[in-house]
Amino acid sequence: MSKQPIGIFDSGVGGTSIWKEIHHLLPYENTIYLADSINAPYGPKGKQAIIDLSLKNTQLLLKKNCKLIVVACNTATTNAISLLRERYTCPFIGIEPAIKPAALNSKTKAIGILATKGTLSSKLFHTTTSLYSRGLTIIEQEGEGIVELIENGKINSPEMTFLLETYLNPMRKANIDYLVLGCTHYPYLIPQLRKHLPKQVKIIDSGEAVARQTKAVLRKNNLLVRSKNSASHQFFSNGNVEVMASLLSENFEVNYFKF
Ligand code: DGL
Repeated sequence: MSKQPIGIFDSGVGGTSIWKEIHHLLPYENTIYLADSINAPYGPKGKQAIIDLSLKNTQLLLKKNCKLIVVACNTATTNAISLLRERYTCPFIGIEPAIKPAALNSKTKAIGILATKGTLSSKLFHTTTSLYSRGLTIIEQEGEGIVELIENGKINSPEMTFLLETYLNPMRKANIDYLVLGCTHYPYLIPQLRKHLPKQVKIIDSGEAVARQTKAVLRKNNLLVRSKNSASHQFFSNGNVEVMASLLSENFEVNYFKF
């Protein structure tokens, strides 16, 4: 059982930022990554559509014998993870914007959150935000259009520069000292985000925390792989396989799949 792979899914290529953290922390674990790029972005879709797609991704990963599933997508986590946990017995790890550390450590008492519409409008997001919002200005910004550009291989493009400038301007004006990345695609933008923000602004995402949580849950369920053999990693995308391969630092092959 412990040799079974960890399954990871996202609406597209963004969750590879989470795969990297997991692989770094758990180098001997086998993994299967699923990018549902054909249906990206999930953000503007309604809750039910996000649930249906999350169920499809989960079923495919379970068919491939995964022992645990990482929902490497804030939008799918905030809208669908409770239902996935109700429906399936395997452990699920989700990802949510790291509001807590930003709120607790902010000195200027202003923080920015860049996330998708689906995440910002979710109940889970509202519940977490209301726990930490007292005495704080929270600038919530929908990253409309960003996921599409990344999915199309346009991380460094004039269109991206324009969107980031537009979205970060109100945050700069509000004197934020933390920017929380609430979408797993966004860590790929960190070098550019830094250029648009004053030096003292810290950019945080939840990738490392997700990897630590994955390890803890595997350990608790006695599912950590025991051998130290080199692990196997399979990547699947139903969108542009070249874009996805270009984001993976090692030379992995990305396979095309259809539901
Ligand atoms: N990577 C997904 C997330 O973390 C992107 C969502 C989308 O497809 O809009 O929310």
